[in-house]
Amino acid sequence: MSNTTPSFPLNAWYAAAYDVEVGRGLLARTICKQKLVMYRRTDGQAVALQDACWHRLLPLSLGRLDGDDLVCGYHGLVYNPQGQCVRMPSLQSLNPSACVRSYPLVEKHRFIWLWMGDPALADPSLVPDMHWNHDPDWAADGKLINVKCDYRLVVDNLMDLTHETYVHGSSIGNEAVVEAPFQVTHDDQHVTVTRWMEGIEAPPFWASQIQQARQYKGLVDRWQIIRFEAPCTVTIDVGVAPTGAGAVPQDGQPGDRSAGVNGFVLNTITPETDGSCHYFWAFARNYRLGEQAVTHQLREGVTRIFREDEAVLEAQQQAIDDHPGMGFHNLNIDAGAVRARRLIDAWIDKERPAHQVIPIQEAA
Ligand code: FES
Ligand SMILES: [Fe+2]
Repeated sequence: MSNTTPSFPLNAWYAAAYDVEVGRGLLARTICKQKLVMYRRTDGQAVALQDACWHRLLPLSLGRLDGDDLVCGYHGLVYNPQGQCVRMPSLQSLNPSACVRSYPLVEKHRFIWLWMGDPALADPSLVPDMHWNHDPDWAADGKLINVKCDYRLVVDNLMDLTHETYVHGSSIGNEAVVEAPFQVTHDDQHVTVTRWMEGIEAPPFWASQIQQARQYKGLVDRWQIIRFEAPCTVTIDVGVAPTGAGAVPQDGQPGDRSAGVNGFVLNTITPETDGSCHYFWAFARNYRLGEQAVTHQLREGVTRIFREDEAVLEAQQQAIDDHPGMGFHNLNIDAGAVRARRLIDAWIDKERPAHQVIPIQEAA
């Protein structure tokens, strides 16, 4: 039974590429087990089409662009950006059924988002909020990594940051993360895990950030506010401020973080197959904004940190595959991840009829 349960919903916006990846070439990518090809029209508008020619199924990504149209590399059928075949070189007339699927697409927050399910439900206002990635009050950049694991393992990883102590001890982890209490709240699409660590020594990464940005050395109040948006986006509000400078919220009122340094770790994880995913991330900061070298250093620093996660996640997926009889056990640290998984499961369930294979009836 479990192997027939889909591992992801289809009626959702999924990041399919960073804006800079898509241009006047043909970019082939698998999103939610569907092979597609992306490119930009001459006016810059991005396009995503099914990557198989209507005629003999050659991947269209092996063809070439002719203006806004895509020419198949086998027998030259020409498709417009809507996926309609507009020219068949060896025929006088067009077969009107000749077309390939085109995907609803929105470009926002530096990502190309595709709607993989019913196009009638593709509402652009539902794209997850990752505005820090292009907001002038923040400086941000990031990368895409392909991870050989179920996308939900990445969500689990981000929802419980106690792993920092063991996986990222040389940069962002320390004992305080494990020891600090945390709160979990949720609604029907979001889960928030909030952790404040007051009067602690900053881990190496944050000690150097606050020292360089604010010339501060000493104990800090550190926060991690993880916000999951179903099905697979996680934004993490992180930072440190001098202890006692007022950053800690009081009586439901937000604190004053102006003496501190604040970052947002932006993550959206798109299923590629059941056992692999495209993990798009960025790190945004609100200090030393004009310094491009800092943007570069932070991006490369976070790249090194995420490589540590990648090694763990791929080994974990391998172990899951190697031990099909074993399941997970939950600890209190998993409260956020468990809640997030419930929202993902509920979303998948809601779509179940769309996933069910309908047996083909023999014609009478
Ligand atoms: S396979 Fe594309 S034109 Fe024949
Ligand atoms: Fe990590």
